[in-house]
Amino acid sequence: MILPIVPYGDPILRKETIEIDKEFPYKELISDMFETMYNANGVGLAAPQIGKSIRVFIIDSSSFLGEEGIKRSFINPIIIDEYGKEWSVEEGCLSIPGVNGKVSRKENILIEYYNEDWELIEEEYSGYNARIIQHEYDHIEGVLFTDLLSPLKKKFISKNLNEISKGNIRPNYKMRF
Ligand code: CO
Repeated sequence: MILPIVPYGDPILRKETIEIDKEFPYKELISDMFETMYNANGVGLAAPQIGKSIRVFIIDSSSFLGEEGIKRSFINPIIIDEYGKEWSVEEGCLSIPGVNGKVSRKENILIEYYNEDWELIEEEYSGYNARIIQHEYDHIEGVLFTDLLSPLKKKFISKNLNEISKGNIRPNYKMRF
């Protein structure tokens, strides 16, 4: 089921999220999240973006990374470490359509999470996969990529952000205004 995506300005994107337990019906939720993400041509989606304040996000980077791409669900993740050099890449977000900006992040991460079979996994990621995970992880911490832009860029996009929060946009996927 395709779910409406929560736009910038909705307080749920800023709320503290909670861990889920094994009994939570997460499989259905994750399946809906993948459907919602593919429908919007995204590479990652976090639970707060579909109105759920829980520590779950998904990513599928195979559409632009090919062989290097990964498809994963991250349940109750914890980024244990971020290391390597800082690199800057233009990011965007399904909750903030039409806005892009360069974000500096560390190149590598070490993350622990539960997968859909409720196995505890520890993995290292680098490059674009690490970046997508960092972006989605920020969502479950109430942080948006626009928070991480330079002061000048923030000033430049403030009008766009305001229009999005007022619902004055027409993205080609369903949003919850
Ligand atoms: Co996002």
